[in-house]
Amino acid sequence: MNIAVISYSFSGNNDTLAGSVAKELSSEYFQISESKPRTLSTITMDMIFSRIPLVQPSPNLLVKYDLILFFGPIWMGQVTTPLRPYLKHLKTNPNKYGFISISGGADGPNTKVSGELRKRTGADPVVFIDLYIADFISTNPKPTRKATSAYKLDPGDIKQLTSTIVKKLMDVT
Ligand SMILES: Cc1cc2nc3c(=O)[nH]c(=O)nc-3n(C[C@H](O)[C@H](O)[C@H](O)COP(=O)(O)O)c2cc1C
Repeated sequence: MNIAVISYSFSGNNDTLAGSVAKELSSEYFQISESKPRTLSTITMDMIFSRIPLVQPSPNLLVKYDLILFFGPIWMGQVTTPLRPYLKHLKTNPNKYGFISISGGADGPNTKVSGELRKRTGADPVVFIDLYIADFISTNPKPTRKATSAYKLDPGDIKQLTSTIVKKLMDVT
């Protein structure tokens, strides 16, 4: 099966995880880049105005693969906006895809993401894995947004998460 791993990361966690999974699967790996630097302000603007940013590589590359695995953070309860061009492309060019995210989780699970993916692509992902940084931080006291935002996955975390993800992927590959 020809698999592409495509990731976007603002602070590095999703890229590191995606790179590790791609290596484990021996699949092609693409890191999304944008023409303008991403800031907290442009994140907010994308959300308010439902913007779809310009990204590299071109979403047209998706048609070459049997399965596309997207990795990216959750922002304000939604899928990170640089993944939107790819999700939109799938709506007119349906293909099997998976969605994997390591997000903060300080305010609990991101319950609207599955619905958003269905709406943007027209289909459910064949695999959906939502992971939370809060689970790597002591639960007493409850992890704060500040603590989850500052947390960088270490090599041990990446190894553990990669193994969890690859096991789940075995059912669909
Ligand atoms: C603007 C912004 C909004 C965020 N909103 C959420 C959210 O709604 N839910 C959540 O679980 N985490 C949220 N986070 C935390 C990120 O998902 C988390 O820090 C993630 O690990 C970042 O991934 P990255 O390092 O790949 O960019 C938010 C982070 C930022 C910067």
